[in-house]
Amino acid sequence: MIQVAGLTKAFGGSKVLDGVSFAVPPGELVALMGLSGTGKSVLLLHIIGLLTPDAGTITVDGEHITELSERKLLAFRRKVGYLFQDGALYDFMTVGENLAFPLKEHTRLKAADIRAKSAAYLKMVDLDGAADKYPSELSGGMRKRAALARALITDVKVLLCDEPTSGLDPIRSRDISLLIRELSKKAGCATVVATHDIVNAFRIADRAFVLDRGRFAAQGTEQEVRGSADPFVKEFLAG
Ligand SMILES: Nc1ncnc2c1ncn2[C@@H]1O[C@H](COP(=O)(O)OP(=O)(O)OP(=O)(O)O)[C@@H](O)[C@H]1O
Ligand SMILES: [Mg+2]
Repeated sequence: MIQVAGLTKAFGGSKVLDGVSFAVPPGELVALMGLSGTGKSVLLLHIIGLLTPDAGTITVDGEHITELSERKLLAFRRKVGYLFQDGALYDFMTVGENLAFPLKEHTRLKAADIRAKSAAYLKMVDLDGAADKYPSELSGGMRKRAALARALITDVKVLLCDEPTSGLDPIRSRDISLLIRELSKKAGCATVVATHDIVNAFRIADRAFVLDRGRFAAQGTEQEVRGSADPFVKEFLAG
């Protein structure tokens, strides 16, 4: 579903990504781990075409996204759910309106169907009853759950989550992580979770990638990554 080959990106002369390659089949959840500032968000932004690579190719669901016109790119993004690093609900809309928004933008569903679908997705993330609340009235964990429901609501094939546990306590972090796994598996999404939360990354990921100086210093199952002889990986995992 996601194929990245030789992805290279520099900002102002400093290379953030230096020939990164990987693939994620439908239904697989991978964790993208690494220190702050190593390029996790930059990598995710390439997968939805919000950044363009200096070199390399990105194919999602058979589409070469670097070659898409602006109009086709907009259509392509409907297939991709993105949980932004800061949650990014619209503050001026209620939770229900936040969920309805992508459906209004991207589908031809009738108002009643939009309401029903929004309610069903809110229930799925255990937020039934919160439809009329504003994001400012919710806790951080509730906001993340609402944003997750909104990311998934257009029946996406790809789910990208950027630091889904940041700012949450250990219990809420575990819960949102397990919920991401449950819902992405149910939807059959190819899912990438960018995080430096090692515990939860291994808790939910089928495979993990550790990004260091523009490349993957280790990749594979938890056992394979933990068994890596790479000095950076060892230090990163040791905390
Ligand atoms: N639009 C941009 N213009 C210039 N530099 C950028 C831009 N976006 C990211 N960078 C730089 O690229 C590097 C990687 O940033 P990125 O946000 O991907 O890190 P990250 O791994 O997601 O970190 P964190 O864990 O803190 O979220 C940083 O040095 C950042 O300053
Ligand atoms: Mg980031």
